[in-house]
Amino acid sequence: MNKVGKFQFPGFARGWFVIGFSDELEVGQVKPLRYFGQDLVLFRDEQGEPRVLDAFCPHMGAHLGHGGRVEGDGVVCPFHAWKFDGAGDCVEIPYSDKIPSKAKVPCWPVRERNGILFVWHDPNKGPPSWEIPALSGHGELPWSPWDYGLMKVKTHPREIVENVVDVGHFMPVRGTDVAEISNEFKDHTATQINSGVAYPLGGGEDNYSLRATYYGPGYQVTTMDGYLSSRLVNAHTPIDAETLHLRFAVSLKQRDEEPISSALFQSYVENLREGFFQDLRIWENMRYRDPPILCGGDGPIIKLRRWYSQFYESTARDHV
Ligand code: FES
Repeated sequence: MNKVGKFQFPGFARGWFVIGFSDELEVGQVKPLRYFGQDLVLFRDEQGEPRVLDAFCPHMGAHLGHGGRVEGDGVVCPFHAWKFDGAGDCVEIPYSDKIPSKAKVPCWPVRERNGILFVWHDPNKGPPSWEIPALSGHGELPWSPWDYGLMKVKTHPREIVENVVDVGHFMPVRGTDVAEISNEFKDHTATQINSGVAYPLGGGEDNYSLRATYYGPGYQVTTMDGYLSSRLVNAHTPIDAETLHLRFAVSLKQRDEEPISSALFQSYVENLREGFFQDLRIWENMRYRDPPILCGGDGPIIKLRRWYSQFYESTARDHV
């Protein structure tokens, strides 16, 4: 197996990855993206559909995300105005009646679910093999809109995913006393079921129970009940072999009996965000250990690694 950078996984995992939140992309907006070591263009067409294509125009190589504009269901190149539809086919050249048969840009599967934009990455360009489940009631009362943030982190994606089983770091890093924890692995999902006592940064105690599920290698949803009920998204998307974008989002459930003030709302979200980003310093400076030296009580780390490696299988075939 080839090494990529200092890490032992070849290429990038197969699955759905978050590329932004719905309200970050208006109708007609065009954005350059760089993920999976590739340049891409993201746009929302006039019907409101989000689209992702490879960035570079097949004509003379202009980047469609820098100066391209939306027209109908497609994007118009900023250089000589060739138009590409949402599937990446060239459908119009303003100064020629004939469209060259090779005038196409590779197109990426995109989904918009739960107020989030996803792209499907498969190094072999296979179609999606699962779908992102809908979060019931998302976008309606009593659930608040996502409060979200983005960080660029220098680490391998697996370090982040391992949190789902890494029991030992909860108290030292998170200040959380875990009473019960278990994990379930099924197909493309890995779930942690956990309850205990959290000690918020501002003081006090919060008896919580949660269920955190990865749907594939890069998108995790946690539903948590404690002093308040919340939904959290933890999502990462590789930029290149050594860096990734880490996104964290919180939606809180408003209570009928005792409405949550905006100050409480903000401090609760802030506390969750702080807890989430406490791992950053460790991720950025750690050394990749494979295999690690483990002890009783570390949680099913090897099982998790086996589950996670399924998303690299097609990549491994390409590199062996
Ligand atoms: S480079 Fe895109 S139309 Fe010429």
